Amino acid sequence: MRVGIVNVTGYAGIEVARLLAGHPEAELVQVTGRSAAGQRLSQVFPHMAPADLPVVAELTEKVDIAFLALPHRASAEAALPLLEAGVKVIDLSADFRLKDAATYQQWYEHEHPAPGLLDEAVYGIPELYRQQIKEARLVANPGCYPTSAILGLAPAMGWISEDIIVDSKSGVSGAGRSLGLTYHFSEEHDNVLAYGLAGHRHMPEIAQELDAARRRALPGATNLSPVRLTFVPHLIPMTRGILSTAYAPLVGSLSQAEVRARYQEFYANERFVRVTETPPQTKQTWGSNSCLVYPTVAPRTDRLVVVSCLDNLVKGAAGQAVQCLNLMFGLPEHLGLTPIGIYP
Ligand SMILES: NC(=O)c1ccc[n+]([C@@H]2O[C@H](COP(=O)([O-])OP(=O)(O)OC[C@H]3O[C@@H](n4cnc5c(N)ncnc54)[C@H](OP(=O)(O)O)[C@@H]3O)[C@@H](O)[C@H]2O)c1
Repeated sequence: MRVGIVNVTGYAGIEVARLLAGHPEAELVQVTGRSAAGQRLSQVFPHMAPADLPVVAELTEKVDIAFLALPHRASAEAALPLLEAGVKVIDLSADFRLKDAATYQQWYEHEHPAPGLLDEAVYGIPELYRQQIKEARLVANPGCYPTSAILGLAPAMGWISEDIIVDSKSGVSGAGRSLGLTYHFSEEHDNVLAYGLAGHRHMPEIAQELDAARRRALPGATNLSPVRLTFVPHLIPMTRGILSTAYAPLVGSLSQAEVRARYQEFYANERFVRVTETPPQTKQTWGSNSCLVYPTVAPRTDRLVVVSCLDNLVKGAAGQAVQCLNLMFGLPEHLGLTPIGIYP
């Protein structure tokens, strides 16, 4: 199939280009970039020389599908004409992730540019929405923190209380390529900081999907109260990777072995989500499309503790998007992707 990338000049866009260069069925025919228009991809990103293309201002080639790797708002605006022209869209921004336009406006501080598409957009976690993604023309590719938190907690949503804490650590590429003082080497190196304590934009996205997972896990339940989520992200001095630790009281008593068995059953047929024997580390996911999940029960408190980790640019962005592309075109879901990380 013929593929375009709208905005290849950010970390997410260029990672999609890298993965597509190794995809046997997808042909990357055109890439756009605002600041790089008129140059070749290899001038901006020398590592992409083997898969070089001109960078243009607008998509003009006929494509079957476009990946949008723009900031929010710009992404929704770019999606509209593409969908009207019959092009399928995978949007890596946050624009189509939240189902409620008012919630979007509250967190992103502007009116949604295309609220009429929110119902139709499918949240792009294949492990939870595989069938819907196969039929979608618009996929909202999930955020990197949300992917780690949601995959970590989804198997437990029928048997934990709604009072959930997610504590996440991210490498600096999660903040994108734009310059900022916080990301200077001398500010960020040898340093760890918490941020977004008053509310991070990924919080409503995680809560929305945990609520949905809870409804699926407890189909007969009435009056389910929404999850009460405390989400605290941290920035740590590494390039790629997210590690999230989630905490929630168990409803009833479950042994560690029972909890593990439930997780193993939930992800039994998944290639890219693996329940690990020992707490996973971000380095075990580098460059891979894997999310590693380790559930356990905290001794003495009957609290579920789940550690999950992934590469924010692969399973947290471009890899998950390619997994969705494969589903949307009836291809084996793993094409162009590996579950094995680069080590060391
Ligand atoms: N980084 C991650 O780990 C990650 C994970 C999941 C999702 N995402 C999402 O993916 C999208 C891209 O993120 P990123 O991390 O790749 O960002 P990034 O590295 O900071 O790049 C942002 C890019 O957006 C371009 N841009 C900014 N404003 C624009 C506009 N109004 N119109 C056209 N281009 C514009 C910039 O282009 P110029 O240089 O030409 O100005 C730059 O290439 C975001 O929506 C982000 O939330 C990122």
